[in-house]
Amino acid sequence: MLGPVLLAAAGSDHVRRLVAGTPLTRPVVDRFVAGEELADALHTTDGLLDQGLTVTLDRLGESVTDPAQATRNRDGYLTLVDELAAAGIAERAELSVKLSAFGQALPDGHDIAHRNVARVVAAASAAGTAVTLDMEDHRTVDSTLAVHRALRADHPETGAVLQSYLFRSEEDCRALAAAGARVRLVKGAYREPAEVAFQRRAEVDLAYVRCLRLLMDGDGYPMVGSHDPRLIAIAEELAKRAGRAADDYEFQMLFGIRDAEQRRLAARGHRVRVYVPYGTDWYGYFMRRLAERPANLTFFARSLVTR
Ligand code: FDA
Repeated sequence: MLGPVLLAAAGSDHVRRLVAGTPLTRPVVDRFVAGEELADALHTTDGLLDQGLTVTLDRLGESVTDPAQATRNRDGYLTLVDELAAAGIAERAELSVKLSAFGQALPDGHDIAHRNVARVVAAASAAGTAVTLDMEDHRTVDSTLAVHRALRADHPETGAVLQSYLFRSEEDCRALAAAGARVRLVKGAYREPAEVAFQRRAEVDLAYVRCLRLLMDGDGYPMVGSHDPRLIAIAEELAKRAGRAADDYEFQMLFGIRDAEQRRLAARGHRVRVYVPYGTDWYGYFMRRLAERPANLTFFARSLVTR
């Protein structure tokens, strides 16, 4: 029951001011976010690479309503690419971007976001790394997949995210598997209506398996974005049946969630990529992490009373 309430709060400016305004929130945010500065993200990345993991970096930001902010977000990513190249880690550290951070919700937002992300994708490609377009709420899916298709003409390594909770995703998986694309499959983290998305966890999980089968049997590069032990075991099995080698797909997990499992999979020879968010605009990301697991609220509450 708490999940939908928290997801509603994720979109509320009032609650944002309350939560983000208290310094007491900070230690809990630190569990999920690498820090506010680029240097923090690079430090975390170094530590993860040293453990045999790879990384995808998210410079936090979303739902931009000011064109100047969209440009600043794009430039922040361009600086990030320069820093990854300078540190010589671009091949092991990719980027994840949200098109709403690049202006997708503005008037003419599709074209603005496309232009902004194209600059980042070109810079990333020149530096020897790649970009994956995160997927946001269902109203953005057509636009994001159209941008993804266009970017792949010059940069086929650009990744997309599909969410198994959406009814449409099975068809999208089929299309992208045939197109040979890099696809991160996730369950989905937004509050979606029953007209477009499965509401029961069991249905979302079953849809995940159906989509995963399509991706594993297809021509692309599946990126298994989940911490769910059952789905991880099923992914291994489907990959084996499809004749995929260990470098022909990868597991992806979020920074701060099931760290031991991340290391265990890597030690068994799997490719594991950790999604590392950083920056000051952490509120929406943080609230989605609380909503996924309302037990996190206990952790949050305990940190408030033990200070
Ligand atoms: P599930 O929620 O069932 O969790 C399985 C287990 O993982 C839990 O029992 C718990 O142990 C652990 N766990 C999961 N979430 C936790 C949390 N917040 N705190 C503590 N433990 C937790 N979504 C989206 O809509 N668009 C996107 O672009 C992305 N991108 C993305 C990238 C990557 C790399 C990952 C791993 C996930 C995303 N997501 C996403 C989020 C995704 O949609 C989903 O909400 C979460 O991954 C949680 O779902 P699980 O598959 O982990 O299963």
